[in-house]
Amino acid sequence: MKKIIFSLFVALSSVSAVQAADANAGKEKSATCSACHGPTGVSASPMFPNLAGQNDAYIIKQLKDFKSGARTDAMMAPMAANLSEADMADLAAHFSGLPSANEQAAASASTASSTDATPVSAPAAGNVDIVSSSPAAAIYPGDVAAGKSKAVACAACHGADGNSLIPMYPSLAGQSANYIAKQLADFKSGNRNDPVMAGMVAALTPEDIKDLASFFAVQSTKVGTGESNEAGHNLYYGGDAAKGVTACIACHGVTGKGMKQAGFPSITGQSKDYLKKQLASFRDGSRGNDNNGIMRNIAIKLSDADIEAVAQYITSLK
Ligand code: HEC
Ligand code: HEC
Ligand code: HEC
Repeated sequence: MKKIIFSLFVALSSVSAVQAADANAGKEKSATCSACHGPTGVSASPMFPNLAGQNDAYIIKQLKDFKSGARTDAMMAPMAANLSEADMADLAAHFSGLPSANEQAAASASTASSTDATPVSAPAAGNVDIVSSSPAAAIYPGDVAAGKSKAVACAACHGADGNSLIPMYPSLAGQSANYIAKQLADFKSGNRNDPVMAGMVAALTPEDIKDLASFFAVQSTKVGTGESNEAGHNLYYGGDAAKGVTACIACHGVTGKGMKQAGFPSITGQSKDYLKKQLASFRDGSRGNDNNGIMRNIAIKLSDADIEAVAQYITSLK
């Protein structure tokens, strides 16, 4: 009897915790989740579960279990690692409130003739709005031509077409507009620190940022010409289960092009020097602008030898 009363109490208190959650805040926090679970909580890939319409208490329990390691999954572990209890409750409130996959399918069947883009999840602060339901067809509202003339100021370091010739400076060509816009906003707010870039972004307006991001996003990335190596290849594709390192491929993709909608950047075409510097900066926390500590959580487990090998390997991605 005591046991029953106790579990009732637990059940009731978790229900009230859920009611205090903020679905709108959850929607904002879910930008990262949409790459795999879909912008409307319905996944486009059979590999990833739907979350739309799922019970909120169940979602919270799974996130806690991924965080504690009671449920293991190489992709979800780093997603859950830095979520607070409030984040989990907000995310659960958001996903549980979305119409289920079946309801969404029925609704889209009845409005099949409509050409309206389905709303996507709210982009995090600093992101460019994506005006399309499909990442491949994402249209960025920035003005590419205006971006081109504004990018003259960037050419000395990043190259006229966004392909940098100097290893210290990252290439921007073909990078997702969302990611570029986020980095510029982060340099501006000081969330990402770099003395050179801080000076460059100080005078940029939100409109400049959109235009520049759109211009660089439509330039062509140069393919990697570096040498491959086995240790780096293994880490990139398989991660390191013993150390708890998620495979880079989960977020940066098979050819390193990233996942635009989730804000996972393209890392193809970058120099080894730049890649090593970023991994080391995530590892020691001097770069801390990754949402939920996604990259810091991974980098902290990498040795110098791992960083050397994986950075070298990434330069071979085509
Ligand atoms: C890189 C892809 C990826 C991203 C991004 C991602 N997930 Fe997942 N998620 C998965 C996979 C894969 C599973 C299934 C794990 C398994 O097989 O046990 C999963 C499972 C889950 C589950 C359990 C679902 C169930 O039915 O048991 C929840 C809840 C969840 N994810 C929430 C989230 C939230 C919230 C975010 C964003 C903070 C997120 N995920 C981001 C890949 C991802
Ligand atoms: C004097 C050289 C210089 C100029 C000019 C310059 N940058 Fe940079 N930029 C850098 C350096 C150095 C970094 C890398 C900072 C670091 O190591 O974290 C960088 C990083 C970036 C990043 C982040 C890239 C990534 O992959 O994360 C973006 C976006 C960017 N710059 C955009 C611009 C834009 C837009 C302009 C023009 C308005 C510009 N930069 C002008 C030197 C420069
Ligand atoms: C769970 C998703 C995820 C995984 C797995 C992951 N990354 Fe990342 N990575 C990110 C995100 C998100 C960012 C951008 C953070 C930000 O907003 O600045 C990033 C940024 C980076 C950058 C900086 C890019 C730039 O242009 O400055 C490098 C380099 C990088 N990751 C390498 C790796 C390597 C190597 C691995 C595997 C050992 C890996 N990542 C695994 C999500 C991931």
